[in-house]
Amino acid sequence: MFIMDKHKPAWFQNGVLYQIYPRSFYDANGDGVGDLAGITAKLDYLRGSQHSLCVDGIWISPFYPSPMADFGYDVANYCDVDPLFGTLADFDELLAGAHKRGLKVMIDFVPNHSSSQHPWFLESKADKTNPRRDWYIWKDAKDGGSLPNNWQSWFGGPAWRLDETTGQYYLHTFLAEQPDLNWANPEVRATMREQLRFWLDRGVDGVRVDAVWWLSKDPDFRDDPDDNTFTNSRGGPKLYHYLNELVAVVKAYPGRFMVTEGYPIERGTPRPYLPFYRRLNPEITAPFNFEAIHLPWKARAYQKFINQYQAATRANDIPIYVLGNHDKPRLASRIGQPAARTAAMLLLTLPGMPFIYNGDELGMENVVVPPERQQDTVERHGADAPGSRDGERTPMQWSGAPNAGFTTGQPWLPLEDNWKERNVAVEANDPASLLELYRSLIKLRHEQPALRDGDYRPIASGHPDVMAFERRSSHQRLMIFLNFEPEPAECKLSTPIGQLLLSTTGTERQTDIKMLALQPHEGIIIEAQA
Ligand code: GLC
Repeated sequence: MFIMDKHKPAWFQNGVLYQIYPRSFYDANGDGVGDLAGITAKLDYLRGSQHSLCVDGIWISPFYPSPMADFGYDVANYCDVDPLFGTLADFDELLAGAHKRGLKVMIDFVPNHSSSQHPWFLESKADKTNPRRDWYIWKDAKDGGSLPNNWQSWFGGPAWRLDETTGQYYLHTFLAEQPDLNWANPEVRATMREQLRFWLDRGVDGVRVDAVWWLSKDPDFRDDPDDNTFTNSRGGPKLYHYLNELVAVVKAYPGRFMVTEGYPIERGTPRPYLPFYRRLNPEITAPFNFEAIHLPWKARAYQKFINQYQAATRANDIPIYVLGNHDKPRLASRIGQPAARTAAMLLLTLPGMPFIYNGDELGMENVVVPPERQQDTVERHGADAPGSRDGERTPMQWSGAPNAGFTTGQPWLPLEDNWKERNVAVEANDPASLLELYRSLIKLRHEQPALRDGDYRPIASGHPDVMAFERRSSHQRLMIFLNFEPEPAECKLSTPIGQLLLSTTGTERQTDIKMLALQPHEGIIIEAQA
């Protein structure tokens, strides 16, 4: 159930957000890596001109000063911009340009760990009595010399690294270059709140908060059990308390919003997501819902999960569905190009605040990066996406110009082979392209009241491969039918269908029919007769 509160700003209730991976969006200075000035240069693509995608906001992955061991998720200064990406003045220009177009800007906040080069960590590791010693998590080896406990790094190997200077181990949930901050220390939390205020004061509209499960750990640092539930290393007893402290900061700035990133261990159920609504303030924050990335591409699986999610959330909860990001194999590679069109219609007709990962609107595919050009070397990131994440982070394909118009230099990662056919310039001129479908869907979402704030109600499609649901507002009823498979599908309906608003295959239809014949992978939006 989702009912829009008319008194709240609409952007985070039903706005379409667009994730920008800044290294790969657009390179304005020719060094082969995207930058903030590059994002500013491409704002018209996103909003404010006649041919814009017309998204409501952007989330920019980290651009802080960083040694880039994890491409910016290892932050060496929370209140500045890495020279690779530009300056604070460039950020202000980007923000002003976005706001002029009515585009909201969310930044990435990485509270669980800093870079091992952050001055805080350098001080912390200097000696055991340093005032910042307790800002990170230091432990002795167990009697007999073994590691403090059995916790594993999410990127492979033990989560503990011995520091020779003091003979103690520090905890790193991700790379050894990303030591975990000690959130049990109130001084750390107060300082992190200040870092957040720095950006809110600067005018950002929201934050995406990274890796939240690890903010709180078992206070006794007990071993994780052998059942892959990781119940001691993550999701500790203070998690929502700490997050509420961040929510309180955001709440002090009206109209701002916070999205949390946490992949549940238990998949295919709304259960692990619900505390992020119930135990926090759902008017200020909501969790990313990652199930649409992980579910098998089957109508029944999606219908079941989404029905459950919509039923489990309450009127003010904002669902945040997402089909891809910089950590997961590309959508079009996971499910294929034809299904990527159906998925686009699904994403943009569901309630809440959908996020599009840059390039997914073009159908960009995972690139196989040769070993000599590999950048990301993590060993593991979730059981279904082992190995390097380079493949989903390749440069945005803008045009048929050299390097797809991304850079005049040498791009930091290779381009997809068929960038000459799959790029913004080509797709913008082809009414049948995926980009044009995204544009039409976003336009429709803005125009149709039921897509913006209507209830979600499942419909029995009468065909196992067709997911169907209604979006219903006080004056409008829209029906969405999505054929997940490469075979045609016929749905018998109890009522005549009404007027076709959009088909992913462009197939025309008569109104008032009771037998709905869908093309392979076709998705349609129909306005039902009143
Ligand atoms: C999140 C980010 C990922 C990063 C990790 C550690 O999952 O999305 O890219 O490596 O956190 O910060």
